[in-house]
Amino acid sequence: MIKIAPSILNGDMSNIAATVAMLDRAEADWLHLDVMDGVFVPNITFGPKTIADMRPQTKTFLDAHLMVHDPNTLLEEFAKAGADLITVHYESPGCTHLDRVIQRIHGLGVKAGVALNPATPDSVLDYILDSLDLVLVMSVNPGFGGQKFIPYSLRKIESIANKAAKRGVNLEIEVDGGVKVNNAAEVINAGATVLVAGTAVVCAPDPIQAVKDLKACAK
Ligand code: DX5
Ligand code: ZN
Repeated sequence: MIKIAPSILNGDMSNIAATVAMLDRAEADWLHLDVMDGVFVPNITFGPKTIADMRPQTKTFLDAHLMVHDPNTLLEEFAKAGADLITVHYESPGCTHLDRVIQRIHGLGVKAGVALNPATPDSVLDYILDSLDLVLVMSVNPGFGGQKFIPYSLRKIESIANKAAKRGVNLEIEVDGGVKVNNAAEVINAGATVLVAGTAVVCAPDPIQAVKDLKACAK
């Protein structure tokens, strides 16, 4: 089943509770939470305290995408906050020992994902693919919502999907950046199983309808 994971990034950051309630009404499958530290990416958002405060407001699966210089110091806090999945970036300087980071996330009882920037080949994950719950393919350069989908991302999604199928691993492939109703079908056909949609949902005139429309693309 394809999951729709709206990102709250371009919603009203002074009223996250309203966005969460709205996305619950829209029956979003996951909530995509973009954590940015102003170092790894040129933008700053929120941290574990915000996620901990959101946790009692929704039963929806919380998908934390950490765009930070060093996720290691924060993993325990994010797990305690109630994140269901923690995705770290392959390119984060703190992920030099990526295998260890993944083991640590699993040790905290949380699902583990690795995100790849657009220019990073998926082959860097060949040896750890079997230990991951998710690979996040960035289809824009991370930092901001509302950017244009990079078409070569489709080839990377296909490559990861082929490897996962060949090895029989149960892997979610999440695509993040510039996903909209007009490209959702090709992203799904390439092998994506989780679609992040930021501006396409929260900036739509009718966000609830926007989630429905994306779900319809997945059928
Ligand atoms: C970008 C973030 C995305 C962003 C997606 O760095 O990781 O999750 O919110 O927004 P859209 O869908 O507008 O590209
Ligand atoms: Zn994201």
